[in-house]
Amino acid sequence: MTRKTIPLSEVDDLSINEIHDLYTKFINPNQTKIFSSLPYGNEIFEKAEGSYLYTKSGKKILDFTGGEGVLSLGHNHPRIINARINYQKENRVEVHKIFFSKYMAALSKSLSNILPETLNKSFFLNSGAEAVEAAIKVCFRNYDAKKKNILHANNSYHGKLIGTGTISGSYTKKNLFPVMENSHSFDFNNIDDLENKIKHLSKNGGVYAVIIEPYSVSSLTSCKDEFIQKLYLLKNEYDFKVIFDEVYSGFYKSNKMFYFENYKNIVPDVICLSKALGGGKSSISCLVVEENLYKNTYGKIDNTFLHTTTYNGFGEESITALEAINIMSEDNFEKRVNEISEKIKKNLNDIKEKHKDKIECTKGTGIINGIIFKSFSSKIGDIVEKFPIELVKNKSYFLKKITTTTISSELFENYNILTSVNDSPNSNHLKVSPALIISNEDIDYFFQSIDDLLSKNISIRSISKILEIVKKL
Ligand SMILES: Cc1ncc(COP(=O)(O)O)c(C=O)c1O
Repeated sequence: MTRKTIPLSEVDDLSINEIHDLYTKFINPNQTKIFSSLPYGNEIFEKAEGSYLYTKSGKKILDFTGGEGVLSLGHNHPRIINARINYQKENRVEVHKIFFSKYMAALSKSLSNILPETLNKSFFLNSGAEAVEAAIKVCFRNYDAKKKNILHANNSYHGKLIGTGTISGSYTKKNLFPVMENSHSFDFNNIDDLENKIKHLSKNGGVYAVIIEPYSVSSLTSCKDEFIQKLYLLKNEYDFKVIFDEVYSGFYKSNKMFYFENYKNIVPDVICLSKALGGGKSSISCLVVEENLYKNTYGKIDNTFLHTTTYNGFGEESITALEAINIMSEDNFEKRVNEISEKIKKNLNDIKEKHKDKIECTKGTGIINGIIFKSFSSKIGDIVEKFPIELVKNKSYFLKKITTTTISSELFENYNILTSVNDSPNSNHLKVSPALIISNEDIDYFFQSIDDLLSKNISIRSISKILEIVKKL
């Protein structure tokens, strides 16, 4: 066997074609086909700073994706970079499996300080799905396995592991895999449906938890206040735990630091956090558990290590998250987030009014927004007409999807703006979710560009390119 590996010094010299080739051979051939059919799949992104990406070909790109929820502080925030460089320069300790970490200790205290008093026991992991799985375990153990059922919303997304995949209503491939036992879905925001299911399940093994996304990012809709208030009445009546999955919505995606703060007198039993928690640099997630729930589950000495992971609270990840929280906890941060949200909201309303013929609606809250386009281009319609019917299962959905993808491609090619498309059964929209550090000028430039693009005809070149993806698959 030859053991030839690639030296780091050679990585920078890889061309885009060589990268496509390596992806095809060693990562995922279909992903390569899809990505390379889009304009952003044909650039090498070399450098990133704040709201900008810089390509090898010399383009400066405005990143309006917010890193899909991760880059709330933008790319390479100077305070985060500084914290990490100092950590490395001083050869700080990374792994602390059998002794104490002052970094993890400080991070858990800070998290508890920014949450309600009763939420005060943290456990750190590396992905959103892992945090949700750990939350399920905590709630299940709380009842000594005497309650068997968990409920989730029909449009939910909690991850793609076996457990989280099972409780993700929007995950269309879960039927291909084994499922977690005794999980049931209720209609999002439909309290009667939830109540009926809880009543039924309370006589059939009992309910240990209801998991909710207080703001469903994939459908851009919130759990209504009256739903949450009634959920808490049911919680008192039937005695179950409520898990708030704020993996995406946490850390000022709405105007509040956490979405649950929008509801009066509501405190989660468990909250799951990730994405922005890592300051755009570390893959860290956590669950923070209410004091009594923690005691019931982990109180006995035998249960101390009911949940462990190799990378639990690694040093540099912990200080990165700590600094991210420090930045986001400053007074002026919240003020600025509210200004940005207001500005985006106003611009979304204006653009919708101006281009009623092309925009079906705009939706969202705070920094998580979307534009749903009508399938307005007759050119796209004409091309899709000629498409093999088996590739176009739902024509109106397909037309909208191609329209949104074409707009995203044109924004990149002609305006140097990176956006992404929400491709979920819940909603097909152009995501308008920049980082929380975006400037007013960049917001203006984004909306001027959309306005300009919608005032012109969509170029046939980008439509054809996108349709190539479908043909190639
Ligand atoms: C609300 C929510 N929960 C859980 C997850 C899963 O997180 P991960 O992809 O890090 O496993 C996501 C991911 O987007 C999410 O949005």
